[in-house]
Amino acid sequence: MDIDQHYSHHTDETFLLQQLRERYPDGPSLYQLAPLDQLHIGGIKASEKLLLQLEQLKPARILEIGSGIGGLMRMLTTNKSTEVVGIDITHRFNRLNRAISQLTAPATSPDVLTCDARQLPFVDNSFDCIIFQHSLLNIPHTDLCLQECRRVLNSQGSLLLHEVLQGPNPDSMRYPVPWASGATQSHLITFEAMRDLLQQNNFQLERAENWSDEALQWRQRQAKKEDSVKSTSNLSPAKILGKTFSQMGPNVIANLNAGAVEVWQLSCHGQKG
Ligand SMILES: C[S@@+](CC[C@H](N)C(=O)[O-])C[C@H]1O[C@@H](n2cnc3c(N)ncnc32)[C@H](O)[C@@H]1O
Repeated sequence: MDIDQHYSHHTDETFLLQQLRERYPDGPSLYQLAPLDQLHIGGIKASEKLLLQLEQLKPARILEIGSGIGGLMRMLTTNKSTEVVGIDITHRFNRLNRAISQLTAPATSPDVLTCDARQLPFVDNSFDCIIFQHSLLNIPHTDLCLQECRRVLNSQGSLLLHEVLQGPNPDSMRYPVPWASGATQSHLITFEAMRDLLQQNNFQLERAENWSDEALQWRQRQAKKEDSVKSTSNLSPAKILGKTFSQMGPNVIANLNAGAVEVWQLSCHGQKG
């Protein structure tokens, strides 16, 4: 199964948009959308932590790679002094991102392109900051992807990663997980491998935080909430990821508990080669 199929063949977009319109006639807030559009472990709280880092960096032009249906992008664009571009390989996600942004108050028109992160359609030095939030985990050839980032990022630009990395016990890995139906779609590397690849691609690692404990607690809380409001009208990642989300959530908990995966936040900046 292609990665875009994994992500987009479960969603009835027309029904979902209708539901959002009926439920939130004045437009959904970013918090109301969060169960649906923050498709990463840690939800909107994790995105807020990234925003805090960006407040210090003050980038003028940001590229979000693997922007999904736009949870983080909509948060980023509330800062009018920052230009934000998103790319995602799943075309239906980009369409849904635009459609949801039109429902919010005020309506926004996100700048999103459908393309592969390993071949970015931008000239050299186009951005001050690049963000990956649970998207590098799907991309084979992390090296190729980092080379492309280096090329399109200004020489001193920042690279922020909020990613799932391989833990010490990869053999315990259970599928499906939200980012992959099976092993062929999951491309996790260890923290040590990531650190080496960053260095080889002239990125200076400034901060590395293991968010796994927090991620586990967050997923356990979400599971309780999902159990207590099991209704087809409820907004949850199942609306996007389909019925197997009922296995994905528990598998994330099992994988974090077993050390098959870890959740990290890494901040880097470019250095001269
Ligand atoms: C787990 S989702 C995360 C989406 C979003 N970042 C979020 O946190 O809500 C991973 C996203 O990466 C995108 N993706 C996977 N492989 C990609 C590639 N090679 N190039 C660009 N986007 C990709 C998928 O289509 C999907 O939208």
